[in-house]
Amino acid sequence: MTKLPHMDAQEFLREIGQKINDYLATVFTPDNEPQSLFNAMRYSLLAPGKRLRPALCLAVARTLEVAEEQAMPVAASLELVHAYSLIHDDLPAMDNDDLRRGQPTNHKVFGEATALLAGDGLLTHAFSLLSHRLPFLSSEQQLELVWSLANAAGPHGMVGGQQADLSAETQSPNLATLQFIHTHKTAALIEAAVVMGAIVGQASIEQKELLASYGRHLGLAFQIVDDLLDVTATTQELGKSSGADERQHKMTYPVVVGIAETRRLAENELTQALAALAKTDLHTSLLVGLAELSVRRIH
Ligand code: IPE
Ligand code: IPE
Ligand code: MG
Ligand code: MG
Ligand code: MG
Repeated sequence: MTKLPHMDAQEFLREIGQKINDYLATVFTPDNEPQSLFNAMRYSLLAPGKRLRPALCLAVARTLEVAEEQAMPVAASLELVHAYSLIHDDLPAMDNDDLRRGQPTNHKVFGEATALLAGDGLLTHAFSLLSHRLPFLSSEQQLELVWSLANAAGPHGMVGGQQADLSAETQSPNLATLQFIHTHKTAALIEAAVVMGAIVGQASIEQKELLASYGRHLGLAFQIVDDLLDVTATTQELGKSSGADERQHKMTYPVVVGIAETRRLAENELTQALAALAKTDLHTSLLVGLAELSVRRIH
């Protein structure tokens, strides 16, 4: 296998983040009607997020030597689903948050009905992006991509996790429930991001399984750190209200196991993610770097 040119994960994220933003800006055009709906979709989609899910997809594709233009619509579909999930997650009926990505939440600006529809529009359009004819992918690859995203985002994945998260607001804290919530509401989509990169890159079955394990552990670590930052970081640093979990009686890692153990468990998931990568025959330095950055982040 040819060696990829060395690229630091931070430098990769910066560069790819810009390219992802440029692509996302072309997904909807200013003349799309009705403007009130498209303005609301663009507002959340183009707000400054970390772009972790598309970046992971593109990093895996790059590791498998696929040019990023070929994987970009696939990567973008992940960010559309993520943006939808954030809009709905912030609604008064769910986490009731006022601030997201450093700006007022979608429903605060556009109202709840339009926020619901903006989320619906982003979710469905993700599948439109994935299933229209993509020049570099076979129909079989596209079908597998659609299945992977649908399964991760739907009732067996994120939506199921979001329901469990809401139900847990009135349950007594326990680690088994918490693990179910976090693996479903967050890790499922992050695993899908990695797997979708692997599908684009025509990874072998063995490579795909190991990459999926990497994505799953990284995804769980990512949500554990999200819980931790809600307690330890400021609203300014997060671009969303810190301390919101306690106010909403959320079942989180700091509540269930305390801060020190939360940190240890996040590191433990990172170790397992890296162990899965180490078993592949791939050149993994970029994926190692991205996992470390995602877990040792400060916002
Ligand atoms: C926030 O995700 C919701 C979680 C699943 C933890 P991110 O922390 O990736 O949010 P953005 O995309 O950077 O805004
Ligand atoms: C959200 O988890 C997971 C999603 C599917 C959106 P959180 O509710 O903890 O995410 P934040 O903290 O609001 O970003
Ligand atoms: Mg939530
Ligand atoms: Mg929330
Ligand atoms: Mg959170």
